[in-house]
Amino acid sequence: MSKLTTLEEKLHHDLGDIYDAEHRFLAAQKELLSAATDRDLKKMIKTHIAQTEVQVERLEQGYETLGLKAKRIKCAAAAGLVKEGQDGVEDSEENAKVRDCVIAGAAAKVEHYEISSYRGLIASAEVMGQSELVEIFRANLAEEEQTAATIESSATALIQKAAGKRKQAAKVEARSGDDA
Ligand SMILES: [Fe+2]
Ligand SMILES: [Fe+2]
Repeated sequence: MSKLTTLEEKLHHDLGDIYDAEHRFLAAQKELLSAATDRDLKKMIKTHIAQTEVQVERLEQGYETLGLKAKRIKCAAAAGLVKEGQDGVEDSEENAKVRDCVIAGAAAKVEHYEISSYRGLIASAEVMGQSELVEIFRANLAEEEQTAATIESSATALIQKAAGKRKQAAKVEARSGDDA
């Protein structure tokens, strides 16, 4: 592990961290897209995949601004969030509606990780007078915030759909119980 002795080193580290995280989330979203069944959920993931591709490019512009070569630094948190999402998708394979809820929940956690990362990066870049970087991070942050809000409202709808199916199933069970 490299030592972080200056704010500049910390900024470069945090940039490498989110650059790695965005790559991991890009790949993970493609997996989530193929596992999702709800049309709106799929549409939302698709939209954010396209945004994430642009976000990666923006970060590369950030490296150019700093006169550095883009370099991924392993983001353990992103790796963990991705793994948790993959495990959830695997565990919920028997019920597509529940799986859609799992996917929305995993995606929301990712967005919130990104939001706090970009807020931290913006604070550092502002203090260090890196205005071009501030603009880049703000552009990515705006997309993460908007995506988080969209996912959270759709997560509620997905939970309601999953609950509705369970209610119906319970009714059918109760009815067949009456017949017996
Ligand atoms: Fe992102
Ligand atoms: Fe995101």
